[in-house]
Formats: sequence, C-alpha cells, structure tokens
Amino acid sequence: MNVDEYLALVKKLNLDEYLALVKKLNYYAHQYFALDSPKIPDSEYDLLYRKLEDFEKENPLFIDYESPTQKIGAGSVSSKSSIEEDSKVSAEKVVKQKPFKHKLVMPSLGNAFNKEEIKQFYKRVIKIIEEKTALVSAAKEKIDQETTPLFTIEPKIDGLAVAVHYKKGRLLAGSTRGDGTTGENVTENLKTIASLPEKLKEEIDIEVRGEVFMRKSIFNKVKDKFANPRNAAAGSLRQLDPGVTAERKLDIFIYQGIGPKKNEQGKMLQYLKKIGLPVVPDFYTSNNLEEICEKCEHIYTKKDLYDWDIDGAVIKLNDFDLQQLLGSTNKAPRWAISYKFKTEEAVTKLKDIIVQVGRTGVLTPVAVLEPVRISGVLVQRATLHNMDDITRKNVRIGDEVLIKRAGEVIPEIIKSIKTLKDSKVFYMPDTCPVCHSKVTKIEEEVAYRCPSIMCPAQVKGRILHFVSREAMDIEGFGEVLIDQLVDQGRIKSIADIYSLTRYELENMDRMGEKSAANILSALENSRRCSFSRYLYGLGIPFVGKHTADILARKFKSIKNLFSASKEDITGIYEIGEKVADSLLYAVNNDEFRLMINKLSACGIKPGYDFKAGKLDGKTFLISGTLKQNKRYEAELMIKNHGGRVLSAVSKKLDYLVVGDNPGSKLAKAKKIDNINIVDEETFLRLIN
Ligand code: IVH
Repeated sequence: MNVDEYLALVKKLNLDEYLALVKKLNYYAHQYFALDSPKIPDSEYDLLYRKLEDFEKENPLFIDYESPTQKIGAGSVSSKSSIEEDSKVSAEKVVKQKPFKHKLVMPSLGNAFNKEEIKQFYKRVIKIIEEKTALVSAAKEKIDQETTPLFTIEPKIDGLAVAVHYKKGRLLAGSTRGDGTTGENVTENLKTIASLPEKLKEEIDIEVRGEVFMRKSIFNKVKDKFANPRNAAAGSLRQLDPGVTAERKLDIFIYQGIGPKKNEQGKMLQYLKKIGLPVVPDFYTSNNLEEICEKCEHIYTKKDLYDWDIDGAVIKLNDFDLQQLLGSTNKAPRWAISYKFKTEEAVTKLKDIIVQVGRTGVLTPVAVLEPVRISGVLVQRATLHNMDDITRKNVRIGDEVLIKRAGEVIPEIIKSIKTLKDSKVFYMPDTCPVCHSKVTKIEEEVAYRCPSIMCPAQVKGRILHFVSREAMDIEGFGEVLIDQLVDQGRIKSIADIYSLTRYELENMDRMGEKSAANILSALENSRRCSFSRYLYGLGIPFVGKHTADILARKFKSIKNLFSASKEDITGIYEIGEKVADSLLYAVNNDEFRLMINKLSACGIKPGYDFKAGKLDGKTFLISGTLKQNKRYEAELMIKNHGGRVLSAVSKKLDYLVVGDNPGSKLAKAKKIDNINIVDEETFLRLIN
C-alpha cells in the first residue's frame, strides 16, 4: 500500500473518529470502574461500545491497543448506572482499599439487547459445540443426553461484583472485581453482610463470586445520599470503616462457585445453597431457544416484584466441560451472555420548569413535559432535583430531553439531547412562588428555600405529612381538604386540625355528613397515637420512620426527648450527628415548642408503644460458635427482647457474646472500654 492509498483508506475509515471514540470510552469506563461516578447512561455507553466493536470488526488492522475491547476490565460495563447520579455519588467519600489480585480473572460478559441477539449467541454456542464435539466424543454425549439442560438463565442482579474466598469453610478474604485482574480488598466490609456466612456448613476451600447489592427497602431510607441502589451498594462496600458499611445493611447473591468438583452450573448453585450461601434466586434451565427467550422475558416481567434491582438476565452454558471447550475471548467467556433489559428511556420536549415548595420550604424544580409513553406509562412530569442538577445537565426550557423511568422511582431527566434556537435558560425565582417571601440559599447547601414557616405551601405539606398513613393515619384528611382549609386561612398549623367542627367539615367541597363524621372520629382516635408515629409526623428533617422508631424506643416520651443532650442522642446505634443536630434545632426552636404545647393542649397523648424487653435499647454482637443455640436463634432472642444486633464492633456496642473460636471481633472489643464481653451462659442469664 503506498502513502496515498493508505491515507485514502484512513480517510474512509475516519480513523480520527475511531481514536476519539477509544479515548471517550476509556474515560467513561474509568469514571465508572475507578471512581464509581458514571458520566453517561448505560444505554448510551452500550451503543458507543457497539459502534467501536463494529468498526474494529471491519478494520481489524487498525485496532488500537488502548481500545477498551483489548482490556479485560473495561468492557461493556453491564451494571453501570446513569449520568444523573454522579453528583450524589461523589458526595460519599470512597477510599481506595488495598489491592487484591484475583487468582483467576473476573471477566465481564457480552451483551444481547434483543431476541435476535440471543438467537445469534445460541447458534454460535451450538455451532462451536458441534464442531468441537466431533472431535471430543465425551462432550458430544453430553449434549445428546436430553436430561442435561444446556443452559441456565439467571436474573442479573444490579450491584457490584465481588469474589469471596473460604478456607476450610471459613471466610478468609474478599475483593471487588476492579479491572478484572486486580480488585480492592474489602474483606472486613464483606463480613458485615448478614446473609454472607463467615462459616460454611462444610469445611471446604472455595472461591465464590456474586453481586453485592442494597435492597430497595433499605435504599429508600438512604436515598437522599445516593441516586440508586447500585451506587449505594458500591459506595457502602468501599468504605474505610466497616462500621459504616454495616449500617448500610448490604446484601449479596452468589452466582458462581470455583473449586468444588461439580460438573454443572445448576448443580453448583444448588450445592452453594446447601452449604449456606445466599444463591441468586429464581434461576431456570432450558435446552431450547424459544424457552430461553421466554425465561428472559419472564424475569423481566418480575423485576418490579423483587426487593432488589435486576437489569437483565444471564444465559450460561450449564455444563462446565462444555464451558471449558468454548473458552473465552480476551474480553469475555464465549459460553455466557447477558441479556440486557430495554432501558426505559424516551426523548420528549421540555415544555416548562415549574417550582414546587415542599414542607421544609425547599424549592424543587419540576419538569413539565410533552406527554410521552415509557413502558406503558404516560409521563408528563419529571424531577430535576435542584438548580445544580439543571446547570450540570445544561437543560433549558424548550430543549429536547432524554427521560428515564426506573421502577417505581419518579421519572428523571437524564440530559438535554438538543437545545433549540428559542430554548430558554431557567433561573430559580428570587421569591417563593407561593408566599412571595425572599428565597434564601445556604452557601454549602444546594437547596434554595422559602424561609417563611407560615408559607401556605409549607403548612399544607406539614399537615399532609402529619395526617399521612405512615404517621398519624387520619383517614379521609386528604390533599383537597387541606388545600381548602389552608387557603381559607382556617388552619395555620398542625394543631388547628383538632379544632375543626362537624359543621365546618360538612361545608367543605366534596364533603358529606358521613365523611365529616369519619374524619372527626379518625381525629379522635389519633389522640392516643404511638410516640414513634407522632415523632415521625412532626416532620423534623432527617427523622424518617425508622429513625423515629429508634428514638421513640430510646426516649419513650417527648419530655425525655426534650431533655436529651447531643451525646445522649448520638450515643444511640444508627443515630448520627445529622439527626442529633436536627432534633436539637427543633427542640430549641420556639415555634416548634409552641406547636408541641398546642398539640398536647388538644389532648394528643402519644404513648410509648413498645413492650419493654429485658434487653431494651441494648446492642449485641456474637463472635464464634455458640453451644446451646445457633447464631440466628440467639440473634432472634436478642431482637425479641428488645435488643439490637450490630454487624461490627464499634463504640456503640454494649455486649459481645463470645462462643468457641471467636474471630477478630474479640480482640477489637477488648480495645474498647464500655463493651461487656460475656460468654453464652451469661448471655442466657441476661434474658431469663
Ligand atoms: S456471571 C463469567 N451471573 O453482571 C461469568 N453475572 O455483565 C461472569 N451479574 O460482572 C458473571 N448477576 O457483576 C453472572 N447471575 C449472574 C449475575 C452476574 C449479576 C453481574 C456481574 C458480572 C456482570 C456481567
């Protein structure tokens, strides 16, 4: 090839574009893998990656050695999260842990995005098996035996991959996947995962691989901090202090076992379950393509029913010998593929941005969209979080925007796709759109606030929260009624709802005699509410349902809570400084005290609603093997008597119960003064 021919070819190939793509994908992969801070949505990354692969397939001579297709770790980032998360993710300090070199590389998987691509994978696998088994007769017999299913189909858990090593049945070490060759040593953090046993039911040497994740129900309690459960899990597992990881209550599902002599994936999963490991639930086996596709769809339809996120299904060749036979490319095994669920995204026009005022006065921009259907649901509004979010995404009114709807989460704007000539920049208003007070912004906070506690939007929000099902549960007291009462100036604070008369209620829109009577009786019943519901209903920032429960257990009455010091509050397991500061701020605020006094003058008598247990408020941890009870039985006893079981030794631990062969927890506990170290006998005496 002469120079001219070469240059002509380069021009045709647009090599510059290819190299720019290599650079771009490497950047995104670094943001994702190393920094836990993804910059583009999954779907977009996957498309760019596909483009790169297509180019390389056509032009193998030009493959750049820096291309992500040439590296093990930075492949198709299957469990990636989206662009909208990065500000929240970086709010969590993640510290690099010690490196951990994998004995066997932890590869990624190739993707199939539709039925056609599953078919291609299936055909490819069968073809190789047929070609190779013509030579290897033993393997051929295997596929001829109808009894042995060819493939397994498993849900693809959306979390982060880890490898866990057991020696003689004891958890020895664990690591994240990292770049596939070297991960981070997160052994102590993995030990805080309650479902991951420190001791297996058999004394074997084994490496297991699985996905660490955060349950949606747990995520809902920390969602202010993270954008989605996957990021929450990743951030929590890579904490320097295992105590912090423990508080996040992570979970794990195992999908692979390396070591024991088993010959099939399905059987391996059953064995892993038998020895006490939490194995990926709901896996299927099948021989035929139609059924495999059906199972993938079945997993898709079930995805919202699970308490964890799944983002696809993994199809694997079941037989380990056949897996060997197929081997791997330098990127991923040929014997497995991940079927990625369609991302629930759509493009539409951003018609307007309106501002809503919440019960704490925070101004939230809400996107008004040209209605668009995403997986069967008509989306007309989407959240934009805050002003920083809008600026970062460079979203303007009039733009074409990309929307994502994930599970039950409110739809979000991921980014602007196209800014039009008449698109307008959005500015936060200077005054509250409801009460017109001057808006404030605290330097270190992203939120803009309406400072007026009397702002009707705030009053409405506070009352709606107070009467809600999870708080005082005052049935029938809905938004329409609250809007009327506040707009007419009839109620200005929570306590005012208790002075409403039958006559007043009956004269409200959409109210009859019966509904007014029902509301009055619901109000009456709520006078004897539980302390934790009442506390939650007061709407103190950072005091959610769970926190209110803990505080109610500890303090038992508003009087005790009012006289608690900061140390008293932060000394409680699971309660940090943020909650303590927020509580103390409320307690020392005149308006808040006035509201409490008014409520008690209205006859609200919140009672302590937990049966006092012998271990009430005390925290426990068990180390080693107990003789008289299994560990989970002892833990249940603790919980039944009002105690709490921690996952790691910390200053907040009251008792360490020590059995045979205690682990490192004992040494750690000895270094902390206030921990009572007791044996099983003493522990049982505490209860009985
Ligand atoms: S098998 C060689 N099975 O998905 C086998 N992976 O895209 C590799 N994942 O890195 C993995 N659920 O983090 C497998 N049931 C499952 C999985 C699963 C989630 C994750 C895992 C892996 C990524 C591959």
